Amino acid sequence: MPRDIVAIAADHAGFPLKSVLAEDLRGMGFDVLDLGTDGPDSVDYPDYGEALAKAIAAGRAKFGVAICGTGIGISIAANRERKVRAALCHDVSTARLSREHNDANVLVLGARTLGIQTARDCLKTFLTTAFAGGRHVRRVAKLSPDDGGQ
Ligand code: RB5
Repeated sequence: MPRDIVAIAADHAGFPLKSVLAEDLRGMGFDVLDLGTDGPDSVDYPDYGEALAKAIAAGRAKFGVAICGTGIGISIAANRERKVRAALCHDVSTARLSREHNDANVLVLGARTLGIQTARDCLKTFLTTAFAGGRHVRRVAKLSPDDGGQ
């Protein structure tokens, strides 16, 4: 069976954490679609949020991970794509609830606001938690009315 693909993207502030989380993803058995950035030189977070969002919308990856300094800018960028539900999470509870309640398909993390272990725990929780369905189906569908809730 082919392995699930997780896309990951970060700006320069998120680049060191991206390297750590990409290794964690491989350790969890995922194939990683690394969309950059590839070093510490200053770049613009909208470019990476957009690249990640396009990969999710095109079905190139099942889930995405987006990282910038606070997570705020790259989450705004990623959420401009209608098929993306990018959730800025700051602990395992928000990572879990973003999957259970919101069926989030992109985990967003702030590299300058989270400790590395918290970020790693968020990643693991996000990828091992299922959407709870039930009453949440109607609400999530209302986020994408033009797509029949997809
Ligand atoms: C880059 O300095 C910083 O502005 C960016 O990583 C992010 O925090 C924006 O929301």
